[in-house]
Amino acid sequence: METSFAKALLTGLTKRQKSLEPKFFYDAEGSRLFEEITQLEAYYPTRTELGILEAKAGEMAAFLGSGTVLVEPGAGAPTKAQKLLAAMNKPLAYAPGDISIDHLEEATRPLRTEFPQLTITPFQLDFDNEIVLPEGVSALGPVAIFFPGSTIGNFSPEGARGLLSRFWNIENSQTLLIGVDLKKDKAKLERAYDDPEGITAAFNLNLLARANRELLTDFDLSSFRHFARYDETLGRVEMHLQSMCNQTVNVLGEAIHFAEGESIHTENSYKFKIADFQTMAAESGWSPVHVWTDPNNLFAELAFSKINP
Ligand code: AVI
Repeated sequence: METSFAKALLTGLTKRQKSLEPKFFYDAEGSRLFEEITQLEAYYPTRTELGILEAKAGEMAAFLGSGTVLVEPGAGAPTKAQKLLAAMNKPLAYAPGDISIDHLEEATRPLRTEFPQLTITPFQLDFDNEIVLPEGVSALGPVAIFFPGSTIGNFSPEGARGLLSRFWNIENSQTLLIGVDLKKDKAKLERAYDDPEGITAAFNLNLLARANRELLTDFDLSSFRHFARYDETLGRVEMHLQSMCNQTVNVLGEAIHFAEGESIHTENSYKFKIADFQTMAAESGWSPVHVWTDPNNLFAELAFSKINP
């Protein structure tokens, strides 16, 4: 039994507003569904960020400098890093980090062929702890941190500040290039998180399917529905799983009751104004240097350097 998932599920489902942390989305099936989301017409962030990287890789590479070590915390598919590495002048190493590194060996194989001189060192990290690079990597050259995808938006404001400080503390880190999704029209945001194909709904419901698979809970998936709403005051898209009837679910021996309409809050995805994000980053020791956006101002790639290295 996956004990941390079991513990988190019981804790989350006994709160007044039932909740579950989004990190549990990403089992094998959830990661597959997320990849599908990134290809959807409704989900604009991935292709928009890729467009920015394609158009501005040269300027970003100039900012990152030559002989740099590129560190990507929370790396999935290295498609975005590949665009940067191709534009960079003699990058020395690429260190993608994730909670589980099994998939990174496979995912970085094409990079090994494309960049035979590059040292590629996948490493394990847990966002809740200090980030420790693989032995010897930080001594190779100045470390640039690449954190694309607006993954920072899945953290609470305090969590995001903490993470930016942990980036600052990475040995020899000097620069930060981070992708953030920008505030925009409510309808566009809600469509991105509730696509007509129903892939985001399947991604959200997979949390319950995962609990049934791994923890032998008895969630009836057909009696929960996915919903996403943009809270303009809080500046975040919330995803929920809402019970469509009164029901009781057996979760690890506990009877968990759901009233009709009650929901499990499964994710926040914060959206930013560029100036607000820069203010928050500055509080964690990062000074803004550059901003690159797409022509429609949907997404931004922000560059920072350390205030007091
Ligand atoms: C990984 N993360 C940045 C995605 C997001 O947009 O918040 C996760 C996601 N949730 C639903 N669709 C995509």
